[in-house]
Amino acid sequence: MENNFDVIVIGAGPGGYVAAIRSAQLGLKTACVELRKTLGGTCLNVGCIPSKSLLNASEMYHKAQKEFKNLGIETKDIKLNLPKMMANKNKSVLTLTKGVEFLFKKNKIFHLKGKGSILDNSTVEVTDNSKKIAYKAKNIIIATGSVPTSLPGIKIDEKTIVSSTGALTFDNPPKDLIVIGGGYIGLELSSVWQRLGSKVTVIEYLDHIIPGIDKDISSEFLKILNKQGINFKLNTQVTGVKLVRDKAVVDFTNNETKKKEKMECDKVLVAVGRKSNISEDINKVGIKLNKEKKIQVNRKFETSIKNIYAIGDVIDKGPMLAHKAEDEGIAVAEIIAGQAGHVNYNVIPSVIYTSPEVATVGKTEENLKKENVKYKIGKFPFLANSRAKVNNESEGFVKVIADEKTDKVLGVSMISSLAGTMIAELALAMEFGASAEDIARTCHAHPTHSEAVKEAAMAVDKRPIHF
Ligand code: NAI
Repeated sequence: MENNFDVIVIGAGPGGYVAAIRSAQLGLKTACVELRKTLGGTCLNVGCIPSKSLLNASEMYHKAQKEFKNLGIETKDIKLNLPKMMANKNKSVLTLTKGVEFLFKKNKIFHLKGKGSILDNSTVEVTDNSKKIAYKAKNIIIATGSVPTSLPGIKIDEKTIVSSTGALTFDNPPKDLIVIGGGYIGLELSSVWQRLGSKVTVIEYLDHIIPGIDKDISSEFLKILNKQGINFKLNTQVTGVKLVRDKAVVDFTNNETKKKEKMECDKVLVAVGRKSNISEDINKVGIKLNKEKKIQVNRKFETSIKNIYAIGDVIDKGPMLAHKAEDEGIAVAEIIAGQAGHVNYNVIPSVIYTSPEVATVGKTEENLKKENVKYKIGKFPFLANSRAKVNNESEGFVKVIADEKTDKVLGVSMISSLAGTMIAELALAMEFGASAEDIARTCHAHPTHSEAVKEAAMAVDKRPIHF
């Protein structure tokens, strides 16, 4: 077995496995260490992919029950077969993790199974059960991702009090589900279980959902989710969760009135954020962390220790998103190979895969106000978009923000059934430094949801056609 490499990547999530593939493509002898039995990290195994499978299946179930008859499709006895839905999810996960295995073989990447620990800036020790093997590397890339956080005194048991991992494997839809945190995970999984029959209450500390998102989007999205039947307690802090027999009792306090309340439920999902996965060896080797215990890296993803790089959720740059980690994986490999790898942190889209979806890229109005940048806005509702209308998907709108003087697009947010796919156009436009006028003068196919993007860009100059 080889034990001398140009690059050893620790962690095979979207950051790590992409860094390994790009390194190998560039002719570097590459190994990737992974603790999990399957490749793909949190995203493929217990995150993005299984949650999207359940989001898709639960949406179909919901539509079959509630919407088919309006379209003239008569159905009888629609029943939920949760074990089958879960089996379908597991099969998708397996296919995709096997896909990464195939890509490793194709690119001749050495897959080192076990827990990787950094002994010094050129040695990684891999422990598999009790067997330890030390490997040498000219460059080490830390891509160990993140783990769910909880609140003080709340212990996640993955049975009654669960993280996103447990909420992807319930045997039955809980009768009452309390979700702590109205962020990405909280809202996606609330949607899944609400559609499958749970009574869902989201308790959120802030006075709005999705921290950091454009306020217009946040308030419209809240109305839509409310209409779907998800209950919200905003401006409310969860202070504790007690297990009482097979149930949980959640204690919470309203931030304004200071009124203390409790609520009983069958399951509690704790979705209050994630923290970087920093193992002991990272501290031992002396790699510098910031205040939030994330690895400090420079623009080349170099840590404070020579030849050790870090990317993805574990570092102090950008949002904790799989596609950000992937781009960093490509960039760091190119930098190690002597090329000019680069990530533009101003143009990282983010998507909430509910129905409708929410997608954003670039700055929000709130950001620009803080930065004292003068801007103009163009908005266009899907109510006035013909394709969205005929598909009964007229909720939501597109909001384009452009520089007041130069017309350069600074940010775009939208709510739409296809927002997650459509946001790519705006990310591309922003990468190319497009103005709102550039988008407005680009021909968009009719009838498509994308026409709303063009119209919102036209609305920046107060000349939308259909509104
Ligand atoms: P989040 O940071 O998006 O939301 C956590 C929420 O919990 C915040 O709104 C916060 O105010 C609230 N909170 C904190 N303490 C509280 C308390 N005591 N009582 C009530 N509310 C409280 O974190 P989330 O949803 O756990 O997601 C973690 C990470 O995973 C995020 O960084 C996100 O970017 C990523 N992710 C991305 C997805 C996507 O791209 N679609 C899907 C899932 C996760």
